[in-house]
Amino acid sequence: DQQINLAVVAGDGIGTEVVEQGLKVLDAVLAPSGTKVGTTEFDLGARRWHATGDTLTDEDLGRIKQHDAILLGAIGDPTVPSGVLERGLLLKLRFTLDHYVNLRPSKLFPGVRSPLAEPGEVDFVVVREGTEGPYTGNGGALRVGTPAEIATEVSVNTAFGVERVVRDAFARAAKRERKHLTLVHKHNVLVHAGHLWRRTVEAVNAEFPDVTTDYLHVDAATIFLTTNPSRFDVIVTDNLFGDILTDQAAAITGGIGLAASANINPDRTAPSMFEPVHGSAPDIAGTGKADPTATILSVGLLLDHLGRAEESAAVQAAVSADLVERATTSSVRTTAQIGADIAARVAG
Ligand code: IPM
Ligand code: MN
Repeated sequence: DQQINLAVVAGDGIGTEVVEQGLKVLDAVLAPSGTKVGTTEFDLGARRWHATGDTLTDEDLGRIKQHDAILLGAIGDPTVPSGVLERGLLLKLRFTLDHYVNLRPSKLFPGVRSPLAEPGEVDFVVVREGTEGPYTGNGGALRVGTPAEIATEVSVNTAFGVERVVRDAFARAAKRERKHLTLVHKHNVLVHAGHLWRRTVEAVNAEFPDVTTDYLHVDAATIFLTTNPSRFDVIVTDNLFGDILTDQAAAITGGIGLAASANINPDRTAPSMFEPVHGSAPDIAGTGKADPTATILSVGLLLDHLGRAEESAAVQAAVSADLVERATTSSVRTTAQIGADIAARVAG
């Protein structure tokens, strides 16, 4: 593997700034092995939509598919109606490229302040389903704008879709020290989908007898994320619950400036996509205030996915060291400085 071909979707707002730092660190960590990073930039997001009306064409998709992986900055802009870029670009990428595992690790790094007084050790991963649930766009609206309006958003859960993500979550749990999997749902109310998820976890557990499991309703899960986050090892949940829980998980582990994510196609029928959990933050775009750490950690997940475990660990370690240093110094660094400092650590 002397060349990694990356599709780069910097996107909107701070996306460009953070992606630049992620690429800086990627180049630095791969340099000793002689592996080169080839990048193809894709002009997608608010600018392109305003200019052409396109969000993501078949031609874009065809070209993106020719890459080993995708690095994405952030999508979304206040000048574009809500939902246009989210549905037409970000979710279209996740759905079309079959990113059914949305992996979101949550780790409280040494030196990082949690808003919790006594967080304890926090180190878990959320396996969020990425292609189904209420995100499929099923449903509709009747008599819009009248007092008789009815709006429905249908959550789609297929046996095929639930089973493959549950199996992936078990496999991840089996490789971890605590080997524990928590299913989060709401089967006391969402009985149809809830029971499908519960039966699936029970059935797949037979393939992973070392993994212990438990179940939490999503409302209770938010309590435990606040009162006892150490109890979690691997969480598996649907697309919407996973969206909400991973913002809370980010908040208790130092904020979304540090939260990385991977949209994985485990069958490798299309490139996987790596992106920070945060959005485009238009309020600070261009000011150099954005924290590129989440993107850099996402680059770590990218390396791991491409079989570069050693380089992935090196990125994690460099970030960890940088975070310790942040705790002991008061100097404020720009986006580019943080990127350069972490790149220097992985290089040397
Ligand atoms: C995320 C975001 C997206 C989601 C939005 C922007 C569509 O919140 O990546 O968590 O809901 O998945
Ligand atoms: Mn979200």
